[in-house]
Amino acid sequence: MPKLKNPESLALEAPLELALRPRRLRSGAALRESVAETYLRPDHFIAPFFLMAGQGQEPIAALPGVQRYGLEAFLRAAEGTLKLGVRSLLLFGVLPEEAKDPLGRSSADPLGPVPRAIREVRRAFGNEVVIYTDVCLCAHTSHGHCGLLKETPRGLMIDNDRSLPQLAAMALTHAEAGADFVAPSDMMDGRVGYLRRALDQAGFTEVGILSYAVKYASAFYGPFREAAKSAPSFGDRASYQMDPRNAREALREAALDEAEGADMLMVKPALAYLDILARLRPQTRLPLVAYNVSGEYAMLKAAARAGALDEARAVRETLLAIRRAGADLIISYHAQEALAQGWI
Ligand code: PBG
Repeated sequence: MPKLKNPESLALEAPLELALRPRRLRSGAALRESVAETYLRPDHFIAPFFLMAGQGQEPIAALPGVQRYGLEAFLRAAEGTLKLGVRSLLLFGVLPEEAKDPLGRSSADPLGPVPRAIREVRRAFGNEVVIYTDVCLCAHTSHGHCGLLKETPRGLMIDNDRSLPQLAAMALTHAEAGADFVAPSDMMDGRVGYLRRALDQAGFTEVGILSYAVKYASAFYGPFREAAKSAPSFGDRASYQMDPRNAREALREAALDEAEGADMLMVKPALAYLDILARLRPQTRLPLVAYNVSGEYAMLKAAARAGALDEARAVRETLLAIRRAGADLIISYHAQEALAQGWI
């Protein structure tokens, strides 16, 4: 046994004169509750849903606990979600290969899974529900890119400006079906202004735009692309989604979308970009939305299933962190389970 230092020899001779003691505010649960700076309510969440043609539901291997829904199954799931106090739904369409073409024309099909779901969920729940729809071509194009392609002397490139009319057709189809907000996630330049004009010209001045203003080219979308069958068939999305190394660029994207008429701004993904949320917060007066994306969800689920952490606490801490960083609303696959289980 080595010789241990004796703390008695280090004991204070006089009481410590410590006027400032932060621990006083943590001394009991009721007190901690009363001074908590951040909190979560059910209506802080936007719940994502994957809609497919047909009936029934299919599990998504990469996203345990998340399903693709046919119409009837979706309506039941939406009802369950509303009962938990979540009022906002974000709808994504999942199309079979045979519905896809190079121009993504099925994105404007009024009988597609998303327009149908909008009409039915509105019929069932009226204005209790706030309906957001993802507006992007990747689930509708045969090549899986978010915009259309063109041949150029430099090779095949994204045709930014020619993609905008198809995105506008998609947004109008959703507005006609009864969406409250369209959420363009394609990252083409000028799309927010283009959609705003198209909506206004068609008389949909009340339909809002939640812009995926700050959307990074992220590895954390992997499970979503399986869920939505929307992975690019070649190349990547780096020519339109943002470089993870950049922060000033995020402020620029956000400012542009605000100037073009966005009603809310999104940062996506959430967890690796909490600094971006925090920097954007004082730069805009618009509501900020954070997307806690599929890979973030899958990562936490896998860790919980491996017994590496306590899922309830980890989910709560994660969602609180996103709010603390500056998000008003959170899009998260955790929302329903976290509320139903009383994790938050
Ligand atoms: C469509 C879109 C994507 C996500 C939302 N909208 C995928 C992508 O950009 O490749 C990802 C959401 C998630 O990972 O949960 N462009």
